[in-house]
Amino acid sequence: MSRGFLTPEVKEEIRRRTDLVALVGAHAALKRSGRYYKGLCPFHQEKTPSFHVDAERGLFHCFGCGAGGDVFDFVMRTANLTFAEAAHELARRAGVVIDTSPEAAQRASERQQLLRALDAAHDYFRTALAGPRGKRARDYLARRGVNETVAARFGLGYAPPGWDGLLGALGGRGYAPAVLEAAGLVAARQGGDGYFDMFRDRLIFPIMDLQERVVAFGGRALDDSEPKYLNSRESAAFSKGRLLYALAQAREAVRERGQVLVVEGYMDALTCHQFGFQNAVASLGTALTPEQVALLRRFTSDVVFVYDADQAGQAAAERGLQLCEEAEMVARVAALPPGEDPDAFLRKHGAEAFSRMVATALPMFEYRLQVAAERHDPAGREGRIALIDEMLTVIQSVANPVRAAEYLRTLAGRFGVPEDALRQRLRSRKRAGRPTGPQAGTAGPRGDRAREEAERLLLHLMVQEPPRRAEIAANLRPESFALPAHQALAAALFAAPRAGVHEIREGLDDAAAALLARLAFEPPPVTARDKERAAAEAVRYLVHHEPAAAERERVWAAIQAAQASGDEAELRRLQAAYAGLIVAGKRGR
Ligand code: CTP
Ligand code: MN
Repeated sequence: MSRGFLTPEVKEEIRRRTDLVALVGAHAALKRSGRYYKGLCPFHQEKTPSFHVDAERGLFHCFGCGAGGDVFDFVMRTANLTFAEAAHELARRAGVVIDTSPEAAQRASERQQLLRALDAAHDYFRTALAGPRGKRARDYLARRGVNETVAARFGLGYAPPGWDGLLGALGGRGYAPAVLEAAGLVAARQGGDGYFDMFRDRLIFPIMDLQERVVAFGGRALDDSEPKYLNSRESAAFSKGRLLYALAQAREAVRERGQVLVVEGYMDALTCHQFGFQNAVASLGTALTPEQVALLRRFTSDVVFVYDADQAGQAAAERGLQLCEEAEMVARVAALPPGEDPDAFLRKHGAEAFSRMVATALPMFEYRLQVAAERHDPAGREGRIALIDEMLTVIQSVANPVRAAEYLRTLAGRFGVPEDALRQRLRSRKRAGRPTGPQAGTAGPRGDRAREEAERLLLHLMVQEPPRRAEIAANLRPESFALPAHQALAAALFAAPRAGVHEIREGLDDAAAALLARLAFEPPPVTARDKERAAAEAVRYLVHHEPAAAERERVWAAIQAAQASGDEAELRRLQAAYAGLIVAGKRGR
């Protein structure tokens, strides 16, 4: 089929919405050079880069072999497609409708409508932030140290208090309430008729796609009212698992530095950018999805997770590592001190300390080894055997055989075991059909029953009797709980002193959610008469058996000393030890 089957408008739309640099980036590493990007030509063998991409005009050219053209040509050549096939593929990726059926046209126009409404809402929020009503939010930003450059770059806004400010403003400009509702901006009033604004008295973070179109909003409460963040629900314009917050603002720096930092929160991303780490994106409090990993891969294959040191953050980092490994990317995990997120860390310790933390992030295998070494003491023979077995499980989950072989060699070298023995062990395990995932159903670290019972009793009480949460929270921290699911649930319960079971369940991972369900149904393990005494005892037990807290403090102090003295080797060693400590006791699953 010829190029004529598409209207020039549709072709132009596909070109406009497709990022040629990203597209090429999946096939060749590109570096910016003046107004062009340069790299080794994917179409012929060469040692010095003669392949040029002009991002602005959407054209590529190789001075070596003469290949050249636009996005269509690139996809046709690399994927060996006809023009029609390439066009369909690109259109699908860019969300451009080639389909000429009335239904398709209808869907596209609905999406366009949503995007227009979201854009108008963004204007409204930005205007409000700049105006007299925005003082509260401006003060909040000042308090948190967000500068104006960053606020403007991220298009921050403010949703004033009141139930129908946005509804009125956009309604007056012809936006139907049903469209605003579909865009997640307003909700229908229960029972009666009419609508109300979703975002009220909140700082607004617009969520943009790669074309910098606003597709959703996150709204942060200006005080400690709940929920802390309110996010647009999924819509025809917004699919949470498919984009990354701040990627539009970060893409340039990601490409330039060849590395992306993945943080959890909106504020973390903003503060990273403000402190010079413009290659930071946020996964918005959830573990990465395969789509998000694929998205990142278009820009770089070097990923550093800078997630909170809490249980949720560690679980998310592990999942991220796994996905990156599957996508053949180099992923590492940086070790934040407990209780600090990237935002807090940067403001407290500064950009240089942050750089160092990123530079000393542990690669997947070393990270897992560190974690395993915490559970099985390599100083003893039995510990070493168990540790090696656990690492073989990690190696088994590695898809790339070359990579797996490298890891095997590392493991053999590290513990002085012949590679052959490791291979034999792998084979016999496979025959025996052992599960390949992390070992399921084992007890906590060191299998401490007393601690497990104490933790469980307190969780039970907190689930069934919400008023107790505050009192228990006054004495313990989530980190006081050693078992991962326990810790996650405790964190959720402490964070929401009045919330019901369903609300608590929202943010939990599967293991913690299952535990919550069980505790909600189970009768308490002690009689009503014994409850007070047992609860007090359990609290006391956990206070006196804080897992690894003191050791963490000590290592952290040493890290700061090493940073101050610039002893890189020592720093690396301590960072590794630290990473092991913060995940110790969180991996009993
Ligand atoms: N999040 C959310 N809804 C919540 C809590 C969190 O969507 N009720 C998401 C947000 O994207 C948030 C991220 O999870 O940015 C991380 O949550 P958290 O660590 O609690 O917040 P911070 O990003 O640290 O926000 P802040 O610094 O403003 O407290
Ligand atoms: Mn924060």
